[in-house]
Amino acid sequence: MSSPADAPTPAAAPDADAVGRVLLLYSGGLDTSVMLRWIQERYEAEIVALTVNLGQPGEDFDVVVGKARQLGAVDAILLDAREEFAREYVLPAIKANAIYGNGYPLFTALGRPLIAKLAVEQARRTGCDTVAHGCTGKGNDQVRIEATVAALDPDLNVIAPVRQWSMSRDEEIAYAREHGIPVKGGTEAPPYSIDDNLWGRSSEGGEIEDLGAAPHDDVFQLVTRPEEAPEEPELVRVEFERGRPVALDGERMGLVDLLDRAAEVGRRHGVGIVDHIEDRIVGLKIRDVYEVPAAAIILTAHRDLEALVSTIHQNNFKRTLEDKWAYLCYAGLWHDPLRSDLDAYMESANEVVTGEVTLKLYKGSVTPVARESRYALYDRSLASFGESGAQFSQDASPGFIELFTLQTRMARRVRAQHGPVAGPDDPSPEHLGENDGKRP
Ligand code: ARG
Repeated sequence: MSSPADAPTPAAAPDADAVGRVLLLYSGGLDTSVMLRWIQERYEAEIVALTVNLGQPGEDFDVVVGKARQLGAVDAILLDAREEFAREYVLPAIKANAIYGNGYPLFTALGRPLIAKLAVEQARRTGCDTVAHGCTGKGNDQVRIEATVAALDPDLNVIAPVRQWSMSRDEEIAYAREHGIPVKGGTEAPPYSIDDNLWGRSSEGGEIEDLGAAPHDDVFQLVTRPEEAPEEPELVRVEFERGRPVALDGERMGLVDLLDRAAEVGRRHGVGIVDHIEDRIVGLKIRDVYEVPAAAIILTAHRDLEALVSTIHQNNFKRTLEDKWAYLCYAGLWHDPLRSDLDAYMESANEVVTGEVTLKLYKGSVTPVARESRYALYDRSLASFGESGAQFSQDASPGFIELFTLQTRMARRVRAQHGPVAGPDDPSPEHLGENDGKRP
């Protein structure tokens, strides 16, 4: 019997007899490798491993898939989802100028709903009753994956062994040794927890948890440290059609290639480093170090072009929707209808985001230095200090200022006449009612 989509998500791990065949989201790292054996033992279940290519730089996916087979997966599937990721997830984020908090362009948060959707599809195709993932109980990723699985197929069980098994890293390594699981790079703890794809890379944990210290140089494995970047600035031209980046320096290319190329030039110039204090959905505050060269370039260009072609009202309004969009994405609510409602607005606002922006990259900075668009709401003769354009009558300005400031001036006068406004915690006696200062 199938459960309704709004059935509560199961509170704990499913019973062992409900788990026969498990679709495991497999990265090839220690956690998911230990998991591949542990689930077989603990649940006496078959494992289908799924590995998703979202453009993780430097990953050897054939090795990952080979390892899954070697560890006993009955099937090991590799999906190249870069095109879909760029088109269906990163592009809407570009149109929404999506930034969470003070600078996180959401690459992980964008990837998780796609990974979870592919897990559901492959689980159905291969006859799995359960999806397993390697997220911990402290992070956002568990929420994103489970929210998506529950929205798309409420009948699938989900197991998250890292939340269940309470093994320390040393115990995991011991388990790996016993079970013939190769441990990459020896036994020393990796310095940081990394997640990456074509839109960026994050490092968490280790020395990054010391808020009082700057990140060590070894954090930066993607972007050149700005002090080592070239002495000469470089200009990049990004061309957009309806909000979609279509060309770099005049050369048209597909989105995946364009994002790759933007990342490459950004990396060289030390662009896109973000040291971020972040509010996780699960309540924790955390520090992340992000390296987001492609996002730093593309979002800066997009925002600049959009500002030029949209009215003041559109520009002011869109920002509040952008924050909402970013929060929904961050919080794993990709399938909330509000996201598609907001996307409809973003699409509409991006209809005229066509044109070109030139950016200057120099030792970690990205600065728009030139732009053009046939939709620009800009008229040099109107804007110029040099000419008094016939269409802009400066004589009208005093009247405009008078009316525009009417309420501000009046409020100041009225409040000066009647003394300061009483605050709720400090009722001044002349503002108290008959009830002796107790609020009704
Ligand atoms: N703080 C970011 C987020 O919540 C990055 C998380 C990285 N995930 C990971 N499994 N290392 O989206």
